[in-house]
Amino acid sequence: AIYTTPLFPSSLKYPIKQVFVSLKYGDYQCAEDQWTLMENRNAFSRILFRPRILIDVSKIDMTTTVLGFKISMPIMVAPTAMQKMAHPDGEYATARASAATGTIMTLSSWATSSVEEVASTGPGVRFFQLYVYKDRSVVTQLVKRAEKAGFKAIVLTVDTPRLGRRESDIKNRFALPQNLSLKNFDGLNLGKLDKTDDSGLASYVAGQVDRSLSWKDVKWLKSITPLPILVKGVLTAEDARIAVQSGVAGIIVSNHGARQLDYVPATITALEEVVEATQRRVPVFLDGGVRRGTDVFKALALGASGVFIGRPVIFSLAVDGEAGVRKTLQMLHDELELTMALSGCCSLAEITRNHIVAPWDPPR
Ligand code: FNR
Repeated sequence: AIYTTPLFPSSLKYPIKQVFVSLKYGDYQCAEDQWTLMENRNAFSRILFRPRILIDVSKIDMTTTVLGFKISMPIMVAPTAMQKMAHPDGEYATARASAATGTIMTLSSWATSSVEEVASTGPGVRFFQLYVYKDRSVVTQLVKRAEKAGFKAIVLTVDTPRLGRRESDIKNRFALPQNLSLKNFDGLNLGKLDKTDDSGLASYVAGQVDRSLSWKDVKWLKSITPLPILVKGVLTAEDARIAVQSGVAGIIVSNHGARQLDYVPATITALEEVVEATQRRVPVFLDGGVRRGTDVFKALALGASGVFIGRPVIFSLAVDGEAGVRKTLQMLHDELELTMALSGCCSLAEITRNHIVAPWDPPR
């Protein structure tokens, strides 16, 4: 299944080393040397557990509340573009699987299904991820449509003034297949990605996305929508403090799944400084490299209020559509539950910093 999906490189077009990297770390289309891609995973493996024993773990509660919405577990779906490239049902399948699992789906601006189409799948808590276009009337219209379609928050991606150098995309001359479009932008004549000499997406971003985006635009966004705003792409304490001052409802520590600036630290390594800088005034979430329930536990122990997963959703979508995404979410749920039981935690609130040891901790 992996090799028949158009998301994966054909081994003919790619150097063999890259194919192995892709399979081991589950990637394609990420930035430059892919150092951050590997580090997003490897950094999790350097964090170890300090489990507590002889605690009654016969009942485990994994529910949590995100921006006031109760969900079944602290694992949510990150925005990933163009899901119909993975499976014909695309975002419809992801929306249904997320709702069935009782968790939140974030829809990408660059989805191959529109906000209205995703809303038509039925009830479910959904966030809308926003890229800010140079033409602000486009942004305003889109945000209004997301509100109307019942989306509950805006996830403002702040790490993409330009697209990272994704060398596979360049080699592949990435473009959307003819039958697909960026559905949210169809009516605005901005739905197509043309084939160019390099990455069609990089050219599209250069043409449409506003490179001048700055903190004042967070204020602007707040002025056009009552929806809470999460900023996605914070990696430092400095920016976390500005984000809190700017009145955001939450922060997502993210390096865009290693697709933007290469050689930024793994998100799990950056998480703690961001959490400390916020002084717990807003919830902090994490995405990047979360593949196991143990990863989720480690993120919570370092202060995250929840995590988002990107690639696991696309890969399982490619393999088995809605059922595949459901299965992935269920597996992560079950793994986190087991990790909690074996660490002696009955609720998310019982997961503490003392349940893990990180490489940067002083010796005990
Ligand atoms: C992404 N990501 C992303 N982020 C965003 O804000 N808007 C988007 O449209 C996309 N699209 C997208 C496509 C694909 C194929 C990938 C792999 C990623 C980034 C995504 O939201 C998230 O930050 C990472 O995917 C998290 O890392 P993992 O879970 O993939 O390791």
